[in-house]
Amino acid sequence: MDEAIMRSLWREAALECLNEACRQRYPLTEKLFACPSCGDLLWIAYEPAGEEPDVARARWRERRLSDDPLDQSGVWRFRECLPPIAPSHIVTLREGNTPIYRARFCAQYAGVRDLLFKHLGLNPTGSFKDYGMTVAVSQARALGARILLCASTGNTSASMAAYAARAGMRAIVLIPGENVAMGKVAQALEYGAVTLQVKGANFDDVLRLVRELSARPDVYLLNSLNPFRIEGQKVIFIELLDQLGWEVPEHLVVPGGNLGNSAALFKAMVELRQLGLIARWPKLTIVQAQGASPLVEAVARGAKCITPVAQPRTRATAIRIGHPVNWKRALRALEATGGFCVAVSEEEIAEAKAAIGRDGIGCEPASAATLAAVKKLREQGKLVPSETIVALLTGHLLKDPEYTLRYHSGQLDDVLTGRPLSGRLANPPISVEPHLDAIARYFYDGRFST
Ligand code: F0G
Repeated sequence: MDEAIMRSLWREAALECLNEACRQRYPLTEKLFACPSCGDLLWIAYEPAGEEPDVARARWRERRLSDDPLDQSGVWRFRECLPPIAPSHIVTLREGNTPIYRARFCAQYAGVRDLLFKHLGLNPTGSFKDYGMTVAVSQARALGARILLCASTGNTSASMAAYAARAGMRAIVLIPGENVAMGKVAQALEYGAVTLQVKGANFDDVLRLVRELSARPDVYLLNSLNPFRIEGQKVIFIELLDQLGWEVPEHLVVPGGNLGNSAALFKAMVELRQLGLIARWPKLTIVQAQGASPLVEAVARGAKCITPVAQPRTRATAIRIGHPVNWKRALRALEATGGFCVAVSEEEIAEAKAAIGRDGIGCEPASAATLAAVKKLREQGKLVPSETIVALLTGHLLKDPEYTLRYHSGQLDDVLTGRPLSGRLANPPISVEPHLDAIARYFYDGRFST
């Protein structure tokens, strides 16, 4: 196994500053979350080792039959693309391995011929965060860190808490004082994390606090400014291609909050092309909620940098972020791939979420922003109906049951306007008498003809 993890598609790996004018490099063994020289973000830079792409592809396929826990992980199965970490330090919950579903109701809803969802919400803790967390927590263990720390709108904290528990480390999660979905807080508590709800703070405020605290020597930061998180999240794209037989789709659609996922997907695209595993990129489309859309506004203005939104507002609380840290990489991804940057309304998110449910799939509100964007782009004539579109569903339906129940019982309003949502796909529970006839009249009432 040690031999297998060392075999890599890369010859060399180092932390590198993302600032073009700096580009300082540091060894992977340093605990750094920003460049000590200029303060910009770091990522991991590699030199390709020159292995044949077909050999790597075949090895990843073969591992599907293996009983080894690392091969069974949908992240470590692709370990040749990742930074070297000794197997004894790896913390895995068999993350990844998330399915791709063809969604007929949603394709019709959006007006496209075909629509594929890759459901990252079917990870062990119910969100895409597990892809990055397994790598970053393993690195924390390799570095001997004792305290894991994160700021979160909920999913990062749930994921970090689980992996910390598996590794026997202390987890400290900081979440906004309100607007965090119930399922996510419940997870952090159950996995034993110290869960601090910061009064009067939103995600951006909380992230500022943890960035300061991460300078302490025994603390390891798990937000997406941690370059090892980004490495794990790259695998979402690699796994997707492995599942599609290395046929690159025309479009990849992702919700954008702190924009770590967008940065990771683009990094994967660049590296796979560098390694000769793909010849072109999909258009990466990034979707934000209207009330939390600094990237969309920057793109619309043709600006080179974002203007943070001081009070972001959306009921898709996972992406209620006004000052995303990874915006530079996201802008670069849009520019390089020719993807779209789209804002969607609260109404559009709610309807799209219910539509995804009607395909028997379901997701949390932030994830549904993807379908809302596909519909919008189609209506604007920016998507050709016959193109292959893959949308990433980032979180599980059960993360935010309150939102779902309120939608279906007609109690969800638009947080931006205060108006009730139209609830076109609402399916309220029905109170019924305990009589056969009273129940049987609902057998054929036609509400669900599709
Ligand atoms: N979708 C879900 C379900 C999320 O939880 C998040 C982010 C995003 C999309 C946006 O991803 O930040 O990489 O652009 N949640 C973070 C958290 C911020 O703390 O759980 P991003």
